[in-house]
Amino acid sequence: MPRPIEALIHTDALAHNLRRARQAAPDAKVWAVVKANAYGHGIERVYEAFRAADGFGLLDLAEAERLRTLGWRGPILLLEGVFEPRDLELCSRLELWHVVHCDAQIDWLAAHKTHKPHRVFLKLNSGMNRLGFAPQAFRGAWARLNALPQVDEISLMTHFSDADGPRGIAHQVQLFEELTRDLPGERSLANSAATLRHGLEPAVRADWVRTGIMSYGSAPDFPEHDIAHWNLKPGMTLRSRIIGLQQLQPGDTIGYGSSFRAEVPMRIGTVACGYADGYPRHCGTGTPVLVNGVRTRTLGRVSMDMLAVDLGPVPEAGFGSEVTLWGHGPGGSVLPIDEVARAAGTIGYELMCALAPRVPVTLA
Ligand SMILES: Cc1ncc(COP(=O)(O)O)c(C=O)c1O
Repeated sequence: MPRPIEALIHTDALAHNLRRARQAAPDAKVWAVVKANAYGHGIERVYEAFRAADGFGLLDLAEAERLRTLGWRGPILLLEGVFEPRDLELCSRLELWHVVHCDAQIDWLAAHKTHKPHRVFLKLNSGMNRLGFAPQAFRGAWARLNALPQVDEISLMTHFSDADGPRGIAHQVQLFEELTRDLPGERSLANSAATLRHGLEPAVRADWVRTGIMSYGSAPDFPEHDIAHWNLKPGMTLRSRIIGLQQLQPGDTIGYGSSFRAEVPMRIGTVACGYADGYPRHCGTGTPVLVNGVRTRTLGRVSMDMLAVDLGPVPEAGFGSEVTLWGHGPGGSVLPIDEVARAAGTIGYELMCALAPRVPVTLA
């Protein structure tokens, strides 16, 4: 009998969230961003739900190959472009579109022998200061690319640093527009936060949006807005069961470091889930959790394979009761991953990506 922990991937929810991206940015084409093995969900597992997208965005050439193996013939965009010259051979062979964000990538293209010119996305650094040509270098890079026989069509893109927060995107949109106004080609600017918050603005949704996190059912601007506000559904559930019960008396403590001390008699459950499953150790007492679909809280420190939950609000719970760490619980209950991430001082992205390999994953 394996440990009772498992993760479920909800194909219907993923498909619903992709439709939400389309609604939020009407007329735009949608890149389903599936980097980091589809944000920890597994490229093969999300493929059926996301094949309604117009293309897939990712980083890793091996992941691009996996998509082609699955039968995807449409666009695939390498969001960081190629990492070395020979990657261009794979781009030619698999017809991958790639971001060009630095001079070295143009040099490699200029030296690349191909009979099929490449579709490239030239990236402007409009303020994120991660990848992309500085504003003063951008048009020179475009002219260089435009002169290369290896290049077919040049699209234009940038990435927002503050789409989820108060600084917003207007300054980056303005710079992008100034620098690209008279250039031909498709445009791509918006991630999930920009799509949800600004997708109705034509300059923001542009020709393509690049939605990642919202498609997996996490609100990019949590806690300002939650998934209910954006009508998103969790794409992943992490669930387990109660494998031990304890009755505490006032003064009794729980777990390593005795960080929680009972003040009144309490009934607690021990759950088969710990940080070796990808549940964050930083989640302290009070992190929300569902037992039999009823909302309660964790108590004390998370250990490698177990954590404790307060059974006060769920008196009928007992040995074997279902525990939802995040995602969909019984009876239509939902615990957004964002709430757990917040308790750990992080974001939903990190929790999804950190699901441990030892957790069995099935399609729901
Ligand atoms: C270039 C680029 N576009 C789009 C995305 C998708 O972002 P999000 O998951 O916030 O929608 C990412 C992810 O970080 C990215 O790096």
